[in-house]
Amino acid sequence: MEVIISNTYEELSKAAAAAVAKTLNSKPNAVLGLATGSSPLGLYKEMIRMHKEEGFDFSHVITFNLDEYVGLKPDHPQSYRSFMHENLFNHINIAPQNIHLPGATTGNYRAFCESYEKMIADCGGIDLQVLGIGSDGHIGFNEPTSSLGSRTRIKTLTQQTIDDNARFFKDGEKVPIYAITMGVGTILEAKKIILLANGEAKAEAVAGAIEGPVTSMCTASALQLHKQVNFYLDRAAASKLKMREYFEWIQAKMPHGAA
Ligand code: F6R
Repeated sequence: MEVIISNTYEELSKAAAAAVAKTLNSKPNAVLGLATGSSPLGLYKEMIRMHKEEGFDFSHVITFNLDEYVGLKPDHPQSYRSFMHENLFNHINIAPQNIHLPGATTGNYRAFCESYEKMIADCGGIDLQVLGIGSDGHIGFNEPTSSLGSRTRIKTLTQQTIDDNARFFKDGEKVPIYAITMGVGTILEAKKIILLANGEAKAEAVAGAIEGPVTSMCTASALQLHKQVNFYLDRAAASKLKMREYFEWIQAKMPHGAA
């Protein structure tokens, strides 16, 4: 595990983008697992800049998103499909057939979830998984008490997550309570994982994920079992880490990463 602490959100986003670029430079047709929400917005902005200003090529990249609300039409402004197109896909040269998101209006969720897992496996598995973290410690929408071996399935969101996500919806608009999400077990199969977190509201969850016991009460703590995971944090998100000085000391000695 590596913990990289940045002074600003912009610096954190650029460090995460460098990790994405490293993966794609060594494997242009890499499979990326992607997250939505506010945490990866700076990363996506930087990927767009790399494409527009440096001609970075995304034409062979394959993507699988972590999750999608159940019941929202694909073109609903708050659907994760709309989010990804608006904030990334419409601005880079990714091939439309290489984009995969859970289909949240399917008639048969169980069959869909199984086929989503199969599609990932058929593409050779996820090379690099991008994650955010919920204030309750979730990754994807694997809420507290989700099995650490779980696979892609429907989850009921917690009230805390529904309240956190209400900021994206219009006043009075209902926030969905169900989502399709990759499971913790699915996420742990990615070859490499990067988790991005900024702001004080994430500090508790980040400390639980990195230093807490491995527990389904903080599903991000399962990342401790993964052999190649990097946390990109700003100072506020890192503020509750007991080992913060140690991580900063390593970073100062090895600014380009220990690996
Ligand atoms: C979104 C996802 C969630 C978010 C998490 C943090 O695809 O999987 O786990 O990463 O809820 O959301 P933000 O970044 O909006 O704080």
